[in-house]
Amino acid sequence: MFGFLRKEIIIKSEILTDFTDYHSHILPNVDDGIKSVEKALAVLDSYQVLGVKRVVFTPHIMADYPQNSAQFLRSKFEEFKRLYTGEIELSLGAEYMLDAKFEKHLNSGDLLPIVDNYLLVETSYINSPINFMDQLRAIQSKGYFVVLAHPERYNYMQNDDYKQLKNIGVLFQLNLLSIVGVYGKGAEQRAKKLLHSGCYDFVGTDIHNLEFHLNVFHRRKLSKKDINGILYLKNKLF
Ligand SMILES: [Fe+2]
Repeated sequence: MFGFLRKEIIIKSEILTDFTDYHSHILPNVDDGIKSVEKALAVLDSYQVLGVKRVVFTPHIMADYPQNSAQFLRSKFEEFKRLYTGEIELSLGAEYMLDAKFEKHLNSGDLLPIVDNYLLVETSYINSPINFMDQLRAIQSKGYFVVLAHPERYNYMQNDDYKQLKNIGVLFQLNLLSIVGVYGKGAEQRAKKLLHSGCYDFVGTDIHNLEFHLNVFHRRKLSKKDINGILYLKNKLF
């Protein structure tokens, strides 16, 4: 399997060397991501071959997964870490859906940022939350930076929405799969436009399963300009 990785995924070898993956669903059996400890360990082994340095687990915290409190995920993470013997630095964050339950999590004061005080959030792909701006301001008022996951994937967002979000200090996280075309031409084009206008602050894979990512990473070639944009982003904070 590793031979396959080395041979096929040329793009990744450049982008993923010393990479920090700020968005991943690798923590097993807690959401729609990786479903077993064995698979999670296999993903991390593959990542190590590719040169990835750090991985932040970002399981979904949303109404669909009511068990996923910060405390529950911490215990799952500690359990998993005891089984991992590889070299990648692991940490725990979360991806918060801005749904009806979000306010409860925010007010609990027990949150899982992806690093320091950077909180990763997402919305539905179809509709903006009714109180979107209020939710973003509420997060900021608690002292967090809002990191919006894959802004290129929200079908309801237009240029003015991106501008408005940037104007209030929302940080954007590129999903690597968007830019190689996995989520369609629209998301790919929006990702390239946002990347080349300097709108992104973070990058992540949003990996949910190994097979899917192996099949898609080399699906569409990136231009030198795209790769340079991602490389710049990769080193932006750390
Ligand atoms: Fe995600």
